[in-house]
Amino acid sequence: MYVTLRDQFVRQFVTEKELEAMRPEIAQAHEKIVKKNGAGSDFLGWKELPQAYDREEFARIAECAAYIRSHCDVFIAIGIGGSYLGARAVIEFLRSPYHNELRKDGPAIYFAGNSISASGLCELVKLCEGKDVCINVISKSGTTTEPAVAFRVFHKMLVDKYGEEEARRRIFVTTDKARGTLKQFADKKGYQTFVVPDDVGGRYSVLTPVGLLPIAVAGIDIKALMEGAACAMKELSSPDIDKNGAYRYAAIRNALYRKGKVNEILVSYEPYGQLFNEWWKQLFGESEGKDGKGIFPVSVVFSTDLHSLGQYIQQGERIMFETVLNVKDGENRFLIPNDPNNIDGLNFLSGMDLNDVKVTAMNGTLLAHTDGQVPNIVLDVSERSERSLGYLIYFFELACAVSGYVLGVNPFDQPGVEAYKKNMFALLGKPGYEEQQKELQKRIK
Ligand code: PA5
Repeated sequence: MYVTLRDQFVRQFVTEKELEAMRPEIAQAHEKIVKKNGAGSDFLGWKELPQAYDREEFARIAECAAYIRSHCDVFIAIGIGGSYLGARAVIEFLRSPYHNELRKDGPAIYFAGNSISASGLCELVKLCEGKDVCINVISKSGTTTEPAVAFRVFHKMLVDKYGEEEARRRIFVTTDKARGTLKQFADKKGYQTFVVPDDVGGRYSVLTPVGLLPIAVAGIDIKALMEGAACAMKELSSPDIDKNGAYRYAAIRNALYRKGKVNEILVSYEPYGQLFNEWWKQLFGESEGKDGKGIFPVSVVFSTDLHSLGQYIQQGERIMFETVLNVKDGENRFLIPNDPNNIDGLNFLSGMDLNDVKVTAMNGTLLAHTDGQVPNIVLDVSERSERSLGYLIYFFELACAVSGYVLGVNPFDQPGVEAYKKNMFALLGKPGYEEQQKELQKRIK
């Protein structure tokens, strides 16, 4: 058990009776997942993935990652949304946000195609000057604007720099197994391809080649990551919220939502958790925010944000609850030095491990926020490791699916994402959008 839910800071907000009332709803949602008869059930592939993944492809990922690690200075993962957040989250969580500066071997890892920024792209291109580069374009559809534009740029860079033959050894494509122009293009050019499974949506895809290749390039043990997820799959199989922490989490957050707590803040106490927060926000935001419903997912890193958003959380509108990730991280100790002059008056901390100060800050904040009428769910993560993170990923994926069904939405589609795309294409003059273009132009004049 790598993740344990503590609800002592929630009990005053959700009564035992209210939690009891959630049991049948959670059990029904569980049935939908097990029997695969709920909305979006074609996208339940993530559920068995930790055990049922393609072993041959997994071995090829490890091989390619080893090749990439010894053949380039810079590795660029090109993708957006579910095709990028998971990999970046895992790399930062297990390595460091400073991974590129601290690494002892392997390439620096950068992410492209996740914004529409000329500056971002120009800076990254510049950074590649004089360096050996490998790229991995990751796009299930193969036609998403942001990664497609970035791929044009870096594909040309590699072909111009190395010629077609050597570029072929440096370009890796993760996309649909058969459909789409990217797959056709990769096959035509002879690039190594990896499959985004049909039954796994973008935001649930971190444990597929989408996430695993970049993660393995960072030197992370992807087998252990999968083992952690497999452990969660085994342990979180009961429909009973007393035996299944992910379901208990789903039950509590839905009970809070019904009481007007419409925002959930995921709290990390470590800067290396920042990108994991982003992954979690996409998972829950895209899964639940539809049909005029859904908890709005927000995130913070404490203590940093206690000095900014902390004020609002303590005393602003009482519309939120917090979910605190308490990662037991004893990897690095940092003893606070003594100052003979005690200029800052903090000598009472001299010799203390900063990890202990952090835990004390967390406990103080849990009490303060609870006193301020903000319910707090605590998820104790037993260690900072591949296994615990694999477990946590699966924990949230499962909780998210069940939560979505309890909320009464399809947790696996994202129809709302298309609205901006249609307008953007129309305004940019994409063929076939002529009528919309005229209408939209009138509205923005
Ligand atoms: O979760 C999702 O489905 C989205 O975030 C997609 O992953 C994202 O839009 C990228 O899509 P694609 O992989 O087709 O380029």
